[in-house]
Amino acid sequence: MTAHARNGQSTLQKSLPSFFYTSSEIFERERKLIFSREWFCAGREEELPAPGNHIVLEVAGESILAVRTASGVLRAYYNVCRHRGARLCATPSDSDWNVNLTGGVMSSGVIRCPYHQWTYNLDGELIAAPFLNAAEGFCREDFSLYPVGLDAWGGFFFLNLNPATASEKRSTVRAQLGPAFERTARYPLDALRTGHSISYAVAANWKAYPPNSARSFQSSSRPVVRIWIGKREFRIAKVLTPLQKRALQIARLSPA
Ligand code: FES
Repeated sequence: MTAHARNGQSTLQKSLPSFFYTSSEIFERERKLIFSREWFCAGREEELPAPGNHIVLEVAGESILAVRTASGVLRAYYNVCRHRGARLCATPSDSDWNVNLTGGVMSSGVIRCPYHQWTYNLDGELIAAPFLNAAEGFCREDFSLYPVGLDAWGGFFFLNLNPATASEKRSTVRAQLGPAFERTARYPLDALRTGHSISYAVAANWKAYPPNSARSFQSSSRPVVRIWIGKREFRIAKVLTPLQKRALQIARLSPA
């Protein structure tokens, strides 16, 4: 049960049915309807300050490679080679295989597949494919890395797994953030730098986590995130609401 105050009066909203928090079919539906379609925050721009800096992120079961290109912009791609689908950049779980292949984002500013050495520039274009040439009807331009949508706001970067649909529907980070965009306009979010981060696995459905984690940040019934710049404290309304709204919309679409 969630309480909301409206016009001075408290109203209650029903939680989703319990199986929405446990069913793998529901999660698969959320993966398709939410995580594969919408923009979500994936990190801070300052994590990748220089050309060639990169990060591998796991997003809704997909491995995503975000890089700073030679011209200084951030781009993201599926971490998958266009030849035989090998992973371009290793992830921590790959070390289970005890195989050390040479590949990934190289210091020379290229992305090299460790399997057969296909090589891409940081803009995702295929620049070398050993043993294949134009005489065999092979056209390198047709084999760029598959892009992932990337947009930035307030120093945060956001990813969208389906950039073609996002562009078709004119879905943007700004539109998705809704009122949070205006509400935070006075705050210098771009100037923030990460002081410390903590990663931990939570044994809970993703929808259960935001309202519960908000407890530790809030000082009243209204969820806020507190950020300190120097000695000054800024309080910002939580920006997770659109995702929670989306889950509720999906609940309504679901068969009874
Ligand atoms: S799978 Fe990448 S070069 Fe063959």
